[in-house]
Amino acid sequence: MLDLKRYYEGKRVFLTGHTGFKGAWLTLILSKLGADVKGYALAPTSEADLFVQLNGDSLCNSVIADIRDRDRVKKELLDFQPDFVYHMAAQALVLDSYHFPVETYETNVMGTIYVLDALRQLEKPCASVLITTDKVYENLEIEDPYPETARFGGYDPYSNSKACAELAISSYRNSFLNPKDYKKHHQSIASARSGNVIGGGDWSGNRLVPDIARALIASEPIVIRSPNSIRPWQHVLDPLHGYLLLAAKMAEDPIRHATGYNFGPEPSDVRTVLDMCELAIENWGEGSFTTPNLQNQPHEAGLLKLAIDKAKTELNWKPRFDSAEAVQWTINWYRDGRDDALNYTSRQIKAFF
Ligand SMILES: NC(=O)c1ccc[n+]([C@@H]2O[C@H](COP(=O)([O-])OP(=O)(O)OC[C@H]3O[C@@H](n4cnc5c(N)ncnc54)[C@H](O)[C@@H]3O)[C@@H](O)[C@H]2O)c1
Repeated sequence: MLDLKRYYEGKRVFLTGHTGFKGAWLTLILSKLGADVKGYALAPTSEADLFVQLNGDSLCNSVIADIRDRDRVKKELLDFQPDFVYHMAAQALVLDSYHFPVETYETNVMGTIYVLDALRQLEKPCASVLITTDKVYENLEIEDPYPETARFGGYDPYSNSKACAELAISSYRNSFLNPKDYKKHHQSIASARSGNVIGGGDWSGNRLVPDIARALIASEPIVIRSPNSIRPWQHVLDPLHGYLLLAAKMAEDPIRHATGYNFGPEPSDVRTVLDMCELAIENWGEGSFTTPNLQNQPHEAGLLKLAIDKAKTELNWKPRFDSAEAVQWTINWYRDGRDDALNYTSRQIKAFF
């Protein structure tokens, strides 16, 4: 953390999606690093949201606005004159993307373009990390982990909108903010693709760990949809550490690191949804699950692994937790931390770093 403080203390960080699950964790970490954070996102959806529980309004200048409001994005970003940008605001749920495809594309693609377009007008050095997902790669359902050079695809509107965002990032970086012209525009643009993130304080609907936590707290059986699916599970602190390292390295060498990076668990750390469920029950101490025979489910990928060699070599990053530790830290949070979220989350951050 001391190392990271060197880069972030007193620096201005523009963070979109600060009211979400990952955004709330990042807001707290950045405040501990001494950064001046301006958040831009929709309002939290309930009192239980981690951002509210952390008293997020006291940790940052919180702007509640829509990422689809092009003029507002530009105004808030340029008024702030950031040193770093993390763009995380998104419609982030696969199942919701089947219900609201148009809104998903508007938010995830045009929202990203509005951030990029505002950056074109920023006349000071700034390192920007735009967060997409592991699901941007065309999923061939193969054992081989996808490297950063794999072809983009995306079956469902969420994954596909994030792949479209990657293409937009690449086009803006080539056309307007090209690393070879860095001395003219001073912008370094990278994208970050992380795996399925778990951790305390996520209460989203239709996500595995929040569904598990809700069932365990209510002493009800956990209902699992796709028991045999394999995902790159990781604790939220691991990819956030990766994003922080990436932007810090971009500040040092803005040309070299203006590219895409994967952040995931070791590809050998393979767990199915069922494994994760069993680990959670073991850590909680009791519980049960059911796997109903659900008909006509929307398509979800069955097998997905990420290659993380680039982040290891270029950033000296590696996951600190394996998936079993990630579940343990997560379940501990839901059991012991949810009534004292600020202190408990702070302790986990301190212990991690
Ligand atoms: N959670 C995961 O497993 C995971 C994995 C890979 C990538 N990601 C990506 O990481 C980022 C954060 O994910 P999360 O899990 O914290 O999601 P989340 O749903 O908890 O938070 C989403 C955030 O985006 C904001 N947002 C949504 N629509 C908006 C709009 N129209 N205007 C302004 N703000 C809007 C919300 O207010 C919230 O702050 C997203 O870009 C997501 O796609 C998440």
